Amino acid sequence: MKIKALTAIAALVAAPVAFAGGADDDKLVVNGEIEMVTKAKAPAHMENVDEVISGWHFRTDETQALQMDDFENQGMIFADQGLDAWNTVAGTEDKSCASCHGAPEDSMVGVRAVYPKWNDDAGEVRTMAMQINACRTENMGAEPLKYTSGAMANMEALIAMQSRGLPVNVAIDGPVAETWEKGKELYYTRTGQLELSCASCHEENYGNYIRADHLSQGQINGFPTYRLKNAKLNTVHARFKGCVRDTRAETFKPGGPEFIALELYVASRGNGLSVEGPSVRN
Ligand code: HEC
Ligand code: HEC
Repeated sequence: MKIKALTAIAALVAAPVAFAGGADDDKLVVNGEIEMVTKAKAPAHMENVDEVISGWHFRTDETQALQMDDFENQGMIFADQGLDAWNTVAGTEDKSCASCHGAPEDSMVGVRAVYPKWNDDAGEVRTMAMQINACRTENMGAEPLKYTSGAMANMEALIAMQSRGLPVNVAIDGPVAETWEKGKELYYTRTGQLELSCASCHEENYGNYIRADHLSQGQINGFPTYRLKNAKLNTVHARFKGCVRDTRAETFKPGGPEFIALELYVASRGNGLSVEGPSVRN
């Protein structure tokens, strides 16, 4: 590690104050019935981490409780708005999502768990957001949703919740291998004035405090997340953008090739954890 990066991280990271080792031992059960796997053996491709841990474990008891009951989870209000949109006809083809897919609880179970994934027809790695927009533009004759917009986050929440409790299981080989490698490289590249990579914080320092914030592994199994900080649902790429900005680096464009690759790689670091979206974070 370069001296400058060491100094930067030392200045940012304070010694853990609440509990050593970071993640707590609480259990996440939603509505008293959906049992979430929030700690799992790290996937074989991860070299420096033995156990993968949901961001839920790094939040306070109060914040954790909000995700344990759908009546307390404000993200569910947005998922409801997603359901309204799902049933609304839009575009030149006079179709809604429901016209082709029926009810989301019938057609979308398990879908969130495997995204981003390869789409053969398009010959590209697709995030969930890209697939939603492909359906809007190609199947409905409707305008695409803005990549990190509220409308997109709402639809992502609706689709994610159909997979709650199922294990993230993103493929990293075959046609996605090249994109995955690119994502991995981005994850470990130090950027910005602070010369920090994603790994500097989320691999080398999870469990420690950075300013007042308890650092997690930066997992995305809980996305979209309802954040108390901005009182809305937050998409993966909006979160990436915020983190890159914190290193005082130029950020990439949401929906652009760099963040798509990074999303695939970060998602694969959570293989084995339950899909939690929409989760609650601070
Ligand atoms: C005209 C029919 C049609 C409409 C309308 C439509 N879709 Fe699709 N959708 C498809 C087809 C066909 C596929 C491709 C199935 C495949 O190849 O996996 C698909 C695939 C998907 C997938 C990926 C499923 C998977 O297993 O990977 C998602 C998510 C999705 N659609 C969401 C939506 C949403 C959200 C809307 C409304 C904004 C919508 N679709 C509207 C036909 C439609
Ligand atoms: C300077 C330290 C720092 C760096 C570098 C950093 N992050 Fe973060 N990140 C944070 C903090 C602080 C939070 C909020 C607390 C937490 O969940 O870790 C956070 C949260 C996240 C979350 C939300 C986790 C959840 O459970 O909701 C994701 C995802 C994330 N970061 C991804 C990334 C990625 C990808 C990179 C590299 C592009 C990155 N971060 C770089 C500090 C950092």
